[in-house]
Amino acid sequence: MPAKKTQDAVALLIEDHRTVQKLFKQFEKLCESDGSEEEKEALALQICSELTVHAQIEEEIFYPAAREVMDEDDLLNEAEVEHASAKDLIAQIEEMEPTEELYDAKVTVLGEYVNHHVEEEESELFKQVKKTELDLEALGQELSQRKMELMSELGLMDDDDAVAEEEGAVANGAASASKPAAKKSAAKSKK
Ligand SMILES: [Fe+2]
Ligand SMILES: [Fe+2]
Repeated sequence: MPAKKTQDAVALLIEDHRTVQKLFKQFEKLCESDGSEEEKEALALQICSELTVHAQIEEEIFYPAAREVMDEDDLLNEAEVEHASAKDLIAQIEEMEPTEELYDAKVTVLGEYVNHHVEEEESELFKQVKKTELDLEALGQELSQRKMELMSELGLMDDDDAVAEEEGAVANGAASASKPAAKKSAAKSKK
């Protein structure tokens, strides 16, 4: 595994987008191959947790910083509305059992929302932010630190992150860190 590197804010957020898009692809494959309910639920909950963390670091850190330097608020306002729709669907999925009729459909539609949102962020918002004087390196560090905190709270840390985690917060939950299916209640308590 590569050593943990410092990424600028935009690179970090784009990497998150790719991670979650890959997970949606895996979910699609599971549905096509009639994967087990357990596998589907574990993957869906992992997607929900990854998205929850990503949305939260954008809302807490990236969007407010972008708002300060951008001339227009439209893109950021739309992004926040899109987050709200996604979070609503995430909450529904986290409450559901994978055997329920609309489970796969909800995860699929969430993937479509996310693709649309990611496309807008990358082709418009991020491009505009890059043209401003915003310190993307410093912002990247802030995002990365907050992301690790939140992932640790949700038990999502992987070994790489655990090594990079300075505060040792992961020590408490390390034993169960690789079992996304166990995170249902953790994800729920975040809201
Ligand atoms: Fe976003
Ligand atoms: Fe994003």
